[in-house]
Amino acid sequence: MPERIFIGVAWPYANGPLHLGQIAGAYLPADIFARYHRIKGNEVLMVSGSDQHGTPVTLRAEKEGKSPEEVVSRYHQGFLDCWEKLGISFDLFTTTGTRNHAQVVHDLFLTLLDKGYIYKDKMVLPYCSNCRRFLPDRYVEGTCPYCHHPKARGDQCDECGKPLNPADLIDLSCGICGEAPEIRESEHYFLRLSSFSEQLKPWVQEQSHWRQNVFNFTLSYLAEGLRDRAITRDIDWGVSVPVPGFEEKRVYVWFEAVIGYLSASKEWAESCGDSERWRGFWQGDVKSYYFIGKDNIIFHTVIWPAMLLGYGDLNLPYDVPANEFLTLKGKQLSTSSNWAVWLPDYLERYDPDPLRYQLSIGMPETSDADFSWQEFVRRNNDELVATYGNLVHRVLTITYRNFDGRVPAAGDVDADSKTLLSKAEATLNKVDDLLYGCHFREAMREAMALAQEANRYLDAKAPWKTIKEDRDSAATALSTALGVICCLKTVLYPFLPFSSGKLHRLLGFEGTVEGGDWSISAPQTGQKLASPEPLFTKLDDEIVDEENNRLEQSALVP
Ligand code: MF3
Ligand code: ZN
Repeated sequence: MPERIFIGVAWPYANGPLHLGQIAGAYLPADIFARYHRIKGNEVLMVSGSDQHGTPVTLRAEKEGKSPEEVVSRYHQGFLDCWEKLGISFDLFTTTGTRNHAQVVHDLFLTLLDKGYIYKDKMVLPYCSNCRRFLPDRYVEGTCPYCHHPKARGDQCDECGKPLNPADLIDLSCGICGEAPEIRESEHYFLRLSSFSEQLKPWVQEQSHWRQNVFNFTLSYLAEGLRDRAITRDIDWGVSVPVPGFEEKRVYVWFEAVIGYLSASKEWAESCGDSERWRGFWQGDVKSYYFIGKDNIIFHTVIWPAMLLGYGDLNLPYDVPANEFLTLKGKQLSTSSNWAVWLPDYLERYDPDPLRYQLSIGMPETSDADFSWQEFVRRNNDELVATYGNLVHRVLTITYRNFDGRVPAAGDVDADSKTLLSKAEATLNKVDDLLYGCHFREAMREAMALAQEANRYLDAKAPWKTIKEDRDSAATALSTALGVICCLKTVLYPFLPFSSGKLHRLLGFEGTVEGGDWSISAPQTGQKLASPEPLFTKLDDEIVDEENNRLEQSALVP
């Protein structure tokens, strides 16, 4: 029975180009998981979109002297281009600016209001008399009341990861002019989070399959008790509030962005010509996974589940496999501090699979992980090219030259060959289990260990020598190695879709890797091979200095 898998991926703010931290944190693991499930024959829906509202976008627009619309459409186009080039295979990547999204947000808002989970109240808020405006979220800075980090923002502290209200901050200052704001009263809607504490605690406690950090962070957050949160803002950029008298205010970006998972599913269903089709991924027997960075955990393990419980009839997350951070020279990559390797720059200069490889084998899954150009070049040359690429190239060229471009019939299969083939079978199962459980880094290591093993086998069998005196034993070695290469093509497909696709063609197969199944499916005796080409290219050591200089230069630009 095929399984149904819903995959929601964090919605990137359309306020800057994507960087490698976001890719390692959410988009790459999500894509690996989606491709794995598709090749297994499961039904997958993977959605996300540009998060185009909120103060991250308006701040950027003000800085550039452009309208928020202009900023958003430029970066949204850039995101789409990156997904294409990096092979991030969304079923739909939309934006929070659609009519459909606004309608779904209004529906949730009004339903929760109707059920008493949203209420109106007055609150005091920082107001800058100098700038003549309220200072929501990122427009206000101050000291975090929890960890005392001095530069927490009005919506969240980046140091301890806690969501905040502006009024929680100590020693406030206006993010634009730096003045201390005054405090004024304003009317807003609140989400009654406090009434979900008792339901959420036992639910989270049951999720023993969650990653340790996600599980513990969520439980300790719940242990402090949930406080109601304002879900509207004094701002003019965002989804309107569907209540008379609130024409001047907008829905809080976080409240509406998470609803994007649902609205995107509905948009996808509509585009399939079956507007009810989204239900198959939100109700009944389906597992929902949310791939996000660790700074977004609470929104996905507490606030979104509370909204779903309040609305009713929709599935809660099954897993939220949040990654830790990618660092660069020890510092977290960040758009706002302009410290990053930018994805569009990378994709302009290099192939997608070497990056997918590097970020998979060094994925920040259980702890932060550092990206360096030196490691990138080393792993490309010593591992992708020298281990995997070289294995494939040796086997394909020797076979092609000596067996008339066709897969030879194996002679007597000796003990070594049997051992290698059973190792391939074991790897197939091991990687299967690891990917099923979202252990991406481990899965990649298992796959590469098989490539190493196959190289050792090939060195020992030396078919390039035996071909002259013992054609049969050379044929056995090559056909065994071809079987292992087929196995690698499959287990590496979720990670390295471009090179697996190429290998699929070189081996003389038709169709796509994804259209096949999770098995070795060795080529038939006599199958015609394509003329061999290398899978990967060696990179020049010089690019390490070149890229490091580029990094230093760009970090100087404020
Ligand atoms: N835009 C947010 C960020 O970049 C993430 C939003 S995830 C969503 O941190 F689910 F809320 F959309
Ligand atoms: Zn803090």
